[in-house]
Amino acid sequence: MKICLCGLGRAGREFVRYLAENPVHELVAVLCREESATAGKPVTELTEIAIDPSLCVQPIERFDPKATSVDVIVDFSACATSLKLVDLCCRTKTNLVICPTDFHEREIEYIKNKAITNSIGLVFASTLTSGINLVIDFVERLSKVFPDYRFEIIERHPYNKPSPTKTARYIQQAISREVVPISSIRLDGYVGVHEITATDGYERISITHESFSRTAFVRGALLAAEFIQRKRGVFYMKDIVKTLLLDEKL
Ligand SMILES: NC(=O)c1ccc[n+]([C@@H]2O[C@H](COP(=O)([O-])OP(=O)(O)OC[C@H]3O[C@@H](n4cnc5c(N)ncnc54)[C@H](OP(=O)(O)O)[C@@H]3O)[C@@H](O)[C@H]2O)c1
Repeated sequence: MKICLCGLGRAGREFVRYLAENPVHELVAVLCREESATAGKPVTELTEIAIDPSLCVQPIERFDPKATSVDVIVDFSACATSLKLVDLCCRTKTNLVICPTDFHEREIEYIKNKAITNSIGLVFASTLTSGINLVIDFVERLSKVFPDYRFEIIERHPYNKPSPTKTARYIQQAISREVVPISSIRLDGYVGVHEITATDGYERISITHESFSRTAFVRGALLAAEFIQRKRGVFYMKDIVKTLLLDEKL
């Protein structure tokens, strides 16, 4: 698959590093917003990763996905730039995986409608790791099967992470209860931990998901790109995990 990346921040750099070490797909282009300091510069120079020296960062406005036969664009930028990417993808019928989470509801609706109207494939990958999506799927079922259980969520992240995390909120929404308390612990050293405890007073079920590095996000983004490559319509990571569970690939 020919992949294009947008955004060369921490996650984007990890994406480049992972593909350089695991060349299962070809990175054919890297994009940025018009005003980015990375525009026009070689990716290898910016990342210090040994890849094709002719691969330079290009502003979205001047990029044509057809020129490099891009199959899927993976977006690790931010909402304002994602909106420009959606326009580009709809114009050129290119499929897209959107990883940023800083959208308002109206922007999500705009993106969904535009993708459907233009018959492209799009994944809203708001929680990227397959593990956390499996956990969400599991606690959703658990809360329905055992109505007597009470649930609590504890999430642990580094100091700079706003609390609670969006992922903790997604877990909370998946649990069919009026009240699911979330506790946030902020200490350096963590990448990300979400722990769900459920009890009926007689027994306890505890599920912990921990990300060790950003590679988990990259692998989730690639899973989403592989899934959407030949599809049309709007999907979420939970749809991908459910499909894999049905196919027993997980
Ligand atoms: N869904 C998930 O599970 C998941 C996991 C990891 C990351 N993410 C999301 O992926 C995105 C990148 O994460 P990161 O950790 O790499 O962030 P980061 O280090 O802050 O990098 C942000 C990247 O976005 C670019 N960008 C484009 N438009 C921007 C704008 N309007 N404002 C700010 N930056 C803009 C920046 O490049 P220039 O400044 O050079 O333009 C930079 O390359 C974030 O939105 C993050 O929330 C999602």
